[in-house]
Amino acid sequence: MGIKEEIDKLTEELKVYQDKYYKEGISLVSDNEYDRLTDKLIELEKEHPELQHPDSPTKRVGSDLTNDFPEVRHTIPVLSLDKAYSDEAVLDFFSRSIQKEGGALSFAAEEKIDGISMVLYYEKGMLVRAVTRGNGEIGNDVTPNIMTMRSVPLSLPEAVDIAVRGEVYLEKADFERLNASEPDESKRAANPRNLAAGTVRRQKSNEAARVPLTIFCYEGFWSDKSETPADHLHILSRLRDLGFRINPHLAFFDSDKQKAKKKLSDANLEGDAYGFDEIDEFIRKKTKERKNLPYEIDGLVFKINELDVREAFGYTEHHPRWAIAYKFEAPQAEAKLLDITVQVGRTGRITPVAEITPTKLGGSTIRRATLHNQEYIDELELAIGDTVSVSKRGDVIPAVENVTEKNEEGNTTYQMPADCPCCHSPIVQVGGLQYCQNYDCPDQAKGRISYFASADEMDIETLGPKTVELLYDAGILRNIEDIYTADFQQASGLPGLGEKSIELLQKGIKESVSRPFSTVLSALGAADIGKKSAEILVKNGFDSIDKIIDAAERQDVAAFASIPGFGLITGERIVKAFSSSSLRNTIEALKKAGVHMSASEDKNEDGDEAQIFAGQVWCITGSFHNFNPRSKALKEIEKRGGRTVSSVTGKTTHLLSGEGGGSKRAEAERLGVTIVDEKTFMELLGKGEEEPRDDESGQLFLL
Ligand code: IVH
Repeated sequence: MGIKEEIDKLTEELKVYQDKYYKEGISLVSDNEYDRLTDKLIELEKEHPELQHPDSPTKRVGSDLTNDFPEVRHTIPVLSLDKAYSDEAVLDFFSRSIQKEGGALSFAAEEKIDGISMVLYYEKGMLVRAVTRGNGEIGNDVTPNIMTMRSVPLSLPEAVDIAVRGEVYLEKADFERLNASEPDESKRAANPRNLAAGTVRRQKSNEAARVPLTIFCYEGFWSDKSETPADHLHILSRLRDLGFRINPHLAFFDSDKQKAKKKLSDANLEGDAYGFDEIDEFIRKKTKERKNLPYEIDGLVFKINELDVREAFGYTEHHPRWAIAYKFEAPQAEAKLLDITVQVGRTGRITPVAEITPTKLGGSTIRRATLHNQEYIDELELAIGDTVSVSKRGDVIPAVENVTEKNEEGNTTYQMPADCPCCHSPIVQVGGLQYCQNYDCPDQAKGRISYFASADEMDIETLGPKTVELLYDAGILRNIEDIYTADFQQASGLPGLGEKSIELLQKGIKESVSRPFSTVLSALGAADIGKKSAEILVKNGFDSIDKIIDAAERQDVAAFASIPGFGLITGERIVKAFSSSSLRNTIEALKKAGVHMSASEDKNEDGDEAQIFAGQVWCITGSFHNFNPRSKALKEIEKRGGRTVSSVTGKTTHLLSGEGGGSKRAEAERLGVTIVDEKTFMELLGKGEEEPRDDESGQLFLL
């Protein structure tokens, strides 16, 4: 037998023994025999390195050659994740994504493994490189060390070109054991992550081989796009089938549990199914279970399942827009409390704000942190000069968490002023919160105007809080309605307001006139009606401001309270808000300016429709009363930004189903596609009353 044949034979034989042992726990040969064969192969490979197989089983053993970890450029973006520190922030990510997509979405939730980020590159099914994350563009090639890991396949059952992202980690028990056996205390690692990181960079791979590192793989990037599965679940099951280790603790979220369950089983995956309403429960459960896991996790990763949506959402410089990491521990920092100022919000709510020494926290420098209300200050017994811990728990707004050291100046617990710091009217207590009840308080007015113009509301880009403040103080803009009537030429020459910016401001204002009614309704900020509740009001028949005002005038609390999800308190607040003469004056003035005050105006004079179906994919089946021929319905969808297709597939978001729709309807049901009947469709088009029918089977899709 020639050398090549001998190497080939030994390689094959050892591979079989390894696989049997590590995958099934079965030893086909004695340890001695196994070692003898391995040594033999190592020797032959040393003499004839050109004959070594790239996936030779000797790679698992490592070598005593010195590694130098050359820098290599990643061929995929290796980004990190945006962070959230509360269930609300995760829920907000879900609803923002769904709103942006304009259609149904589902989300995978995975454990965020506290390990070392790794990219495994395979060419024609062979592992060619294992690269650390580095700066996301360039990382270190640590292939020899990673090849010693049993859980990293050296070759795949198919000749695919693929990059796989995963987390290399060490189980807690292995960490304890290895650390305890290290006699030199100064060489012991602080935690499993550190030991794993050290091992990945060991200069000799035979030393790395002694540490039982393992990996969970969670993303796959195929060079040939046509091989990429349509969603994350299928990526995971495909990775598993290719021999990668995926985390069995998978959770999956859809609008309801059953849908989630079905998608998991369609992808042939085990996992826990949840409805969107169970996010907080899920987070609580995982937080509790965390300490019982054999490995360390520092959070949970929520990812949009649909790959086409991921592509459409894209990436910022640092992170994908289609995923978010919930972190168990909010970053905390210490700072000194320099002062407490009092802010007046647009609703009159008065909030104490801590002014602190500039402190680095979660990647940014903070100077202010919220203190919520007087009760909170009292609980902390907080005084100026105290040292406090601050956190980014609520994600964006930092909060003071604790007093870590009392001040030495003898300052006592801070007391909020009795009067509004802005307009000096008396502060009123409402259920533990403090309010200024003067509607004309300048800070409230500025807040209302800024809120109305903000990106999520009327989206008047050039009218930010600073400009509002300037224009208010100059007497040009005193209330929301002034936006449409003020003479902005008077503002020319105010700091930062040149002719050009005034022109842009006027253009932005003009464009905002055609925002849909439900946006106007939430932009008014009345009774804290937000985007969602405004839409619900419209869908429940309050599709014009007159209808809302009529009900408020009748003091018809029940008309609002009976709307699902609203209740008595909300009903009372809406009635109160829309009975106020100040708000009514604003509404009248906005009406005159041409701002939409009913859903029926939500198309402009050129016949342009509001793009309510943007991002959605519609299919149509059966016959219709109002659309004859059927193509008329397709036109209505396309006019409103929707795409139309001729068959129901995984990408279809909605099926418009008329009478007699058969197989397409069944397919849509199978795939969990939203089915819309003609009556509901008419309502969506704002033509609800045209064809009254008595069946009530129309199902609306909220989340
Ligand atoms: S997804 C574009 N999933 O967390 C894909 N990352 O803070 C982004 N990590 O660099 C990564 N477990 O190293 C993802 N199940 C998981 C993860 C995970 C741990 C790490 C990863 C990433 C870091 C971001």
